[in-house]
Amino acid sequence: MRTRTLTIDPHKPDVTALQAAAAIIRAGGLVAFPTETVYGIGADAFNGEAVRGIFAAKGRPADNPLIVHIASPEELQAVTAPSFAGQSHVDRLARRFWPGPLTVVVPKGPNVPDEITAGLDTVAVRMPDHPVALALIRAAGRPLAAPSANRSGRPSPTEAAHVQHDLAGRIDMIVDGGVTPVGLESTVLDLTVDPPLIHRPGAVTVEALEHVLGGPVQIGSDKDGAAPSSVASAAAAAAHSETPADVPRSPGVKYAHYAPRTRCVLVEGAAPEIVSALHNRLAAERARGRRAGVLATREGYAAYGTEAAALCIAGPRDDVAVIARNLYRCLRQLDEADVDIIYIEGIEPHGIGAAVMNRMRRAAGHKILHAHTL
Ligand code: TXA
Ligand code: MG
Repeated sequence: MRTRTLTIDPHKPDVTALQAAAAIIRAGGLVAFPTETVYGIGADAFNGEAVRGIFAAKGRPADNPLIVHIASPEELQAVTAPSFAGQSHVDRLARRFWPGPLTVVVPKGPNVPDEITAGLDTVAVRMPDHPVALALIRAAGRPLAAPSANRSGRPSPTEAAHVQHDLAGRIDMIVDGGVTPVGLESTVLDLTVDPPLIHRPGAVTVEALEHVLGGPVQIGSDKDGAAPSSVASAAAAAAHSETPADVPRSPGVKYAHYAPRTRCVLVEGAAPEIVSALHNRLAAERARGRRAGVLATREGYAAYGTEAAALCIAGPRDDVAVIARNLYRCLRQLDEADVDIIYIEGIEPHGIGAAVMNRMRRAAGHKILHAHTL
C-alpha cells in the first residue's frame, strides 16, 4: 500500500483538501491525523472491518480497546448507553475539559462495534482539541476510532515523520499538521466505577479532575497486584499508574509501552543528585567503552559534557509542559543515535509531571535508579 501525505495548516485547516482524507475514512481506510496530544490512526468508528485494519497496521493485540473521537459533546449520545449513573459527571467534565486531552470511559451504546471495545461493555471517548482532528471528524461525518499512530509498544508520534517511520506502507494517508502541542496521550478516566478511576495519567491532572467533580478520584497502579490508590490528590501515585490492580479493566495497560528499542534507565531523585549521579555513571560507561545517551533537562545537560555519546534536551525543569512536548521526540532521537543505553533524567511528579514520569517509567520498563544510592 502506498501511504499518501496531505499537508494541512493546523491553524487554518483547508476543509476542501481534507475531503480526500474523509473519503478514505468513509470507504473503510486508515488515515493518521494530528490531535493536540499525539497523532492518531483514524478509522470509521462504526465500521468493524476498518477498525480491525487499525489493529493490523499497528501490530496491536486485539484485546486492547480503542478511543472513539468525536467533534462535539452531543455526539457522545451516538456511542454511549442511553442513560447511565455517571452521566452528570460526564456532563460536568465535558463542559470543563472538552475539547481537550481527557478521555472518559462510559457504558457503551449498541452501535459501537466490539472491535473497538475489545469486547468490554464500556467505551472510551474524547473530543480532541485540534482544528485538523475536528475538521476531519466533521468531514467524515462520523466518529473516528483512533489509537496513537505508532507501531504497538513504540513511543507515540508527535510529528508526521514519526508516523511515516512506523506506518509507511501500512495506512492509506498521513495528514501532516505539524508537531502536536501536548505531546503525551490523554488522561483516561473511568466513570463506570465509583470513585472514578484514572487508568492513564495525562495533561488533565488528578487535582483538576477532583476539583471539577467535587470528590475523590482513584489512581490506578501499574505495579502488579497493587490496589488502586483511593487517596485524593495522590499525584505521585499517578506517575506509577496506567492500570488498576486485579481487574484488567483497561487491558492495554498490561503491554509494554512508549519504549525505544535501546535499553532505558530512569534516574530519580532530587535534581542536583540526579545530575551528579548521572555524570559519574556516564564516566563509568565511557571507561567501559559503552556509548550512553541522555534525555536531559536544560539545567542538567551541561554537566554531562563529553561523557555522553548523545544528548537530547527535553526542556527546563520549571516548565514541565515543554518536557512533555519533547519527551517522545527525544526518546526516538536517542533510539536512532546508536547508543548502548539511554539514561533519562527524572523530574518532579507534580501536575503534568505525574504523566511525564509515568511515561518515563514505562519507557524504562521500570528500570529505575535512585540518585542518592549511586
Ligand atoms: O491522546 C490520546 O488518547 C491518543 C490520541 C490519538 O487521541 N490516543 C491514544 O490511544 O493514546 P491508544 O489506543 O494509544 O490508548 C488508548 C488507551 C489504552 O490504554 C486503552 O487500554 C484505554 O485507552 N482504553 C480504551 N478503551 C477503554 C475502555 N473501554 N476501558 C478502559 N480503558 C480503555
Ligand atoms: Mg498508544
